[in-house]
Amino acid sequence: MTAHSLSFELAPGGALRGELRVPGDKSISHRAVMLAALAEGTTVIDGFLEGADSLATLAAFQAMGVKAEGPGLGRLRVQGVGLHGLQEPRQALDLGNSGTSMRLLSGLLAGQRFSTTLIGDASLSRRPMGRVIEPLRAMGARIEATPEGRAPLGLLPVEALHGIDYRLPVASAQVKSSLLLAGLYARGETCVTEPAPTRDHTERMLGAFGYPVRHAGSRICLTGGGRLVATSISIPADISSAAFFLVGASIAPGSDLTLIQVGMNPTRLGVINILRQMGADIAIERPRELGGEPVADLRVRAAPLHGVAIPEEQVPLAIDEFPALFIAAACADGDTLLSGAAELRVKESDRIQVMADGLKTLGVAAEPHADGMLIRGLGAAGLLAGGRVAGHGDHRIAMAFAIGALRAAAPIQVDDCANVETSFPDFAGLAAGVGLQITELRVEESPA
Ligand code: S3P
Repeated sequence: MTAHSLSFELAPGGALRGELRVPGDKSISHRAVMLAALAEGTTVIDGFLEGADSLATLAAFQAMGVKAEGPGLGRLRVQGVGLHGLQEPRQALDLGNSGTSMRLLSGLLAGQRFSTTLIGDASLSRRPMGRVIEPLRAMGARIEATPEGRAPLGLLPVEALHGIDYRLPVASAQVKSSLLLAGLYARGETCVTEPAPTRDHTERMLGAFGYPVRHAGSRICLTGGGRLVATSISIPADISSAAFFLVGASIAPGSDLTLIQVGMNPTRLGVINILRQMGADIAIERPRELGGEPVADLRVRAAPLHGVAIPEEQVPLAIDEFPALFIAAACADGDTLLSGAAELRVKESDRIQVMADGLKTLGVAAEPHADGMLIRGLGAAGLLAGGRVAGHGDHRIAMAFAIGALRAAAPIQVDDCANVETSFPDFAGLAAGVGLQITELRVEESPA
C-alpha cells in the first residue's frame, strides 16, 4: 500500500529527444504469470512489468503455493504447478488497483475445488464485475459479490464448470480472457464471440504454452481438460505506456524521440492509427517478432496535429490511450470528437469526466458526453494554461496531464499520482531522461 501521496510538478515547455524503452506490457505480464503458474515446468519470463498491478497478480499466485524467483531487471522464473496444483490461499487475495487481475483471476479461480476471496482498493471495489460474474455463473461457478455486482468477490468451490457459447455484450478483452481461463476447467467447449476485436494476448499466450485455441472470425473456442507446457516468454514494451511519449513528442516542437521494442500487436494499434490520422509523424522502424508478438521501434517527430472524428472501430484498439489522446486533441487545430467509448467511464476513474475537468482547468474547451467527448483544440500555436489538476489516483490520467506540460504556458501540478507505479515504475525518471521537466513531490501520509 502507498504510504505517501505523490504529485508531479512540471515546468512548461521543452522537447522529447533521444531513445527510450518503456517498461514491459502490463496485459502480457499478467497473462505470462497466470499461464506460467498453471503450466507444467519452469517458465522464464523476460521484460516482465515490475509495476504494482502485475506484481499483485504474482503475489496472488505465490499465496496459492506457486514458487517464483524474481522479478529482477525484468526477469522472472515461475515454477508451474499444473492446472490442478494451486492451493487454497490463507487469506483474501488483494489485487490492489488491478481490474485485469480481478477479472481474469475470477475466471481462472471459478473452477477450483477451494474457495478464494478477491479484494481490491477503493477504485477497484467500485468497478463493475457483473460482466464476468454473470457468464461465469452460467458456466456453473458459485460467486458471491455485493448487490451491485462489485468486489469483494467470493469464489466458492465447484466440482467442475461446463463450457458455454457466449456472445460478449461489451467489447472487453478482460471478459473474453476470464471466460477462456474458466474454460480450461470446464467440461466441453467454451466459445466467446466478440462484438469487435479486442486485445488477443490471452489467445496468443495459450498457444505459446501449447494449449489449442480455435478461431473462426470473431468466435474463439477452447476445450477444457488440456495441459499447459512451460516455455520462455519475452515481453515487449507496453504501447500503452509508449502512448504518452508518442503524444508528448508529437505536440512538443523540436522533439525527435525513438521508443524501442514497442509491442505492435494489431489489436493495440489504435493510438498510432488515430495519431497518424491527426497528422502525427510516427515512423515504424525495424519491425520484428518478440515472443510471439510483433514489435518495432517507433520514431516520433513533432508535427502539427489537426482534430478528427475518431472512428468507432478504433475505440477498443486504443481503449487505454484516450487520456493521452485527449491531450493530443487539446493541442490540435480544430475539433476532435470521440464517441462509442462509454467504457472509459468505468476504468480506474471515470476517464471522460476527469479528463474534461482537468482540461477545463488548463483552459481547454472540453465537452463530456455519455460515451465520449468533444474537444476544441487550441491550434498549432496554442498553449495549455498552467494550473493544478487532479490525477484521481488513476495512473493514465496523471501521466497524460504530465505530458501536457510540454505544450503549456505555465507550470502544471498533477496531484494524486502514486498509482503511476501500477503500470509505469519510474515514469518521472525515464521521462526526465528524454526531456520532460518533471519533479516528484512526495508527502508522507500520517497514519490514520
Ligand atoms: C485489459 C483490457 C482492457 C484494458 C485494460 C487491460 C486486459 O480492459 O482497458 O487496461 O489486459 O485484458 P477491458 O477489457 O475491460 O476493456
